[in-house]
Amino acid sequence: MVAKLKDVAQLAGVSVTTVSRVINNYGSLSEKTINKVHAAMRQLNYQPNALARAMQGKPSKFIGLIFPNLTNPFFAELGNELERQLFKQGYKTIIASSAENPEIEHEYLSMLMANQVDGIISGSHNLDIDEYHRISAPIVSFDRYLADNIPIVSSDSYHGGQLAVEYLLKNRVTHIAVIVDEDTSASPTLNRLQGVLDRLTAEHRSFDPLALEKLDFQTTFPGIYDGVVASNDVQALEIAAVYRDRGLEMGKDFFITGYDGSQLIRKVAPHLPTVVQPVPELATQLIKTLLKRVAAPQAAISSVTLPVTFRE
Ligand code: RIB
Repeated sequence: MVAKLKDVAQLAGVSVTTVSRVINNYGSLSEKTINKVHAAMRQLNYQPNALARAMQGKPSKFIGLIFPNLTNPFFAELGNELERQLFKQGYKTIIASSAENPEIEHEYLSMLMANQVDGIISGSHNLDIDEYHRISAPIVSFDRYLADNIPIVSSDSYHGGQLAVEYLLKNRVTHIAVIVDEDTSASPTLNRLQGVLDRLTAEHRSFDPLALEKLDFQTTFPGIYDGVVASNDVQALEIAAVYRDRGLEMGKDFFITGYDGSQLIRKVAPHLPTVVQPVPELATQLIKTLLKRVAAPQAAISSVTLPVTFRE
């Protein structure tokens, strides 16, 4: 038989109201009472009905996460960190991978809203999704402009672009290629290119912007390029492999910079120079900003930019 609230209360030796307070994280309760209630819930395998709570206007304690994909270790790591930190704060996560497809993202947004999540953290790469302008649920974006009233948490892309160029200049490269994507939004990621441009212009140097959408790594590289600014680590490793296949050595015959610096890439490719985004801090700020939005749905909430570092 499915355990009910009163069974938990009876086993824990507390009132039904106390059990409900523990579940909803509400009112001041002693550590001992909270532990007793959790132990009883575990023993009875009691599952609080999130949807029913949401229907009563109470928080569902679910947060939806949307990522373009989970194959890029950076998003896997950020998702993992968000889930870990949210769990600590009493939230469960529903993770959706939008496969960089607006239709799939549209379906997921509807699903998350129907399940009455308390808020959404979106790392979407599908720009111009109309729902983001209309949705009333609290939303925070990672790294991309989604709508005027959606705060963005990101790391310092401008400085990231500059650090990447700094490394190439230090190694005296002659021809620089910069991989760019066709994003025309007001996303902070565009500042990476600005950082690259400003730093190179200051040195009276130029570069070739290569549009990712039309780029064939096998036929473009090595070409004339002995310096490449890639837009993420996975891409940098793919390009580096083309050079290696032609017998060229990274850090000697050519220089390349990645972006993101996830732990997995740092382990499997420790020699890849890369701009490191502070994943745990990004997760903390995304959650903080989202919870601010939950508490004050109409308030103006500032976007947040965190520092990056360079790892040679
Ligand atoms: O690797 C994926 C990239 O897209 C990251 O650099 C991240 O900032 C995201 O916007």
